[in-house]
Amino acid sequence: MAHKLSPLASPLLHKVVDGPEGWSGIEADDEWAAEIRRLAAERNAVILAHNYQIPEIQDIADYTGDSLGLSRIAAETDAEVIVFCGVHFMAESAKILSPEKTVLIPDERAGCSLADSITAEQLTEWKAEHPGALVVSYVNTTADVKALTDVCCTSSNAVDVVNSLPADKEILFNPDQFLGAHVKRETGRDNIHIWAGECHVHAGISGPELARRAEENPEADLYIHPECGCANSAIYLAGEGIVDPERVHMLSTGQMLDAAGRQGSGTVLVATEIGMLHQLRKAAPEIDFRAVNDRASCSYMKMITPAALLRALALGTDEVDVPADTADAARASLERMIAIGQPGLGE
Ligand code: 13P
Ligand code: SF4
Repeated sequence: MAHKLSPLASPLLHKVVDGPEGWSGIEADDEWAAEIRRLAAERNAVILAHNYQIPEIQDIADYTGDSLGLSRIAAETDAEVIVFCGVHFMAESAKILSPEKTVLIPDERAGCSLADSITAEQLTEWKAEHPGALVVSYVNTTADVKALTDVCCTSSNAVDVVNSLPADKEILFNPDQFLGAHVKRETGRDNIHIWAGECHVHAGISGPELARRAEENPEADLYIHPECGCANSAIYLAGEGIVDPERVHMLSTGQMLDAAGRQGSGTVLVATEIGMLHQLRKAAPEIDFRAVNDRASCSYMKMITPAALLRALALGTDEVDVPADTADAARASLERMIAIGQPGLGE
């Protein structure tokens, strides 16, 4: 059973200060890196980082990956403590999958606008309007929403998850409308109802911006995350022959890494949160990666600072807990999710 962690002494802790953009006061230098490794070893902690984290956090983590890959590690790890450098729903999912572990998020204020776009009450009402429908929820949802869900998915396996469900069953897909449209297009199903939620970062990567960048870079491949506002435009550009359809790839963050490894050279326009560029450049240094929108930065992901990570490991905070009844109701939907689809760590 998880237990509250006692604080550990650290010579750097006195420098940590709180501010409007999160915990700060610490440089990500060699002294910091050594202290993080020392504290993680003392706690028997595994550090997981999402691909949208700042480079210093990605580089110190034991594993960096997409939501699916990191959920799988959280479910399987032998470590006693999971430090989730990502946003709150990710740490919650880790706790649901590994209830006996202590799960820490370096700053519990790191939320998600997409997860906030549907509540458990709204989903309950929606279900009542469609009795018998199966609920497919994107992993970017709260534990309360997952507890009302039949199967969760991530962007990397959403199509496979929906294809695994009986064709005659109505589906309530939530909360991301752009991912929902992608799934509907790919599966060809017309019995999918889609919730009108969105991520403010990805919704802000617009169709006109993509069209302009594609025109400026006519030889480039396009890697588009299906949460993007420009996802439909990418399909349109390909359909009209404005961009060679072979060059348009709808990919989760983990799938982008796989694609970059296979591609090896050339220019790639990347439509997703800009933290992704760090892993992509490491995976394929010969490719010239360019952001479609270089302002597409998730301020929640960026709350996981070097100071926040140090504080979390030293003080044993912020601990993420999910009430046992909610976790028990949500677990099956996450277990179905991690059983479907590709690895998600760009291997
Ligand atoms: P993945 O592509 O890693 O599933 O995640 C996208 C995302 O927006 C996570 O916040
Ligand atoms: Fe949520 Fe969007 Fe940030 Fe991902 S990028 S954590 S979906 S707000």
